[in-house]
Amino acid sequence: MLRVLVLVSGGGTNLQAIIDAKNEGKITGVELVGVISNNKTVKSLERARNAGIPAVSVSPKDYENRALFNEAFLEEVNKFTPDLIVLAGFLVAIPPKMVSQYSNRIINIHPSLIPSFCGVGYYGLKVHEKALERGVKVTGATVHFVTEGMDEGPIIAQKAVVVEDNDTPEVLQRRVMEQAEWLILPQAIDDIANGRIAVEGHRVIKK
Ligand code: GAR
Repeated sequence: MLRVLVLVSGGGTNLQAIIDAKNEGKITGVELVGVISNNKTVKSLERARNAGIPAVSVSPKDYENRALFNEAFLEEVNKFTPDLIVLAGFLVAIPPKMVSQYSNRIINIHPSLIPSFCGVGYYGLKVHEKALERGVKVTGATVHFVTEGMDEGPIIAQKAVVVEDNDTPEVLQRRVMEQAEWLILPQAIDDIANGRIAVEGHRVIKK
């Protein structure tokens, strides 16, 4: 059983998609061992607890500086002894020490087709605002391994989504979630848990 820890910041619809996929047997060989949020009040913690998954919060606001937070955060992560860490809408930068300790064992969902609309400043609704401003006709979502560079790690899966003429950022965000994120993130976890993913340089090969 692959021990999976999910990190969240917001509403947790991707977390819910993972929980549902596991309950429906679409993810196998996985134990959801915990959820960590950087925010004490989020709906995600409730979703986790409703599913019987231990959930805790670690907030940068409770620490004097980022170095102290990073230390406490890594300690909290290590307590779960995860084999795989899933960033499901986690909007805090992953400390370099954690990236190297969990090399090729941290994955992230991003709401665009990387390398478009990604990197510093591109998160959540902002990604969709930028896509609409630029006038792209197709956007989507990407699951990738986490490396030190923001949104730069090897790409595991992508799915395209059509932009409609009268989309608002909120409408587009929802469509990208429904048609891409909630499908490719659980699928990627299942692929990793069942040994179907190999990393060769910057490319991910699905076996
Ligand atoms: C999702 O759209 C996810 O792709 C995005 O935040 C949202 C979280 O929603 N992540 C990023 O922008 C990461 N750069 P959720 O809490 O409902 O899953």
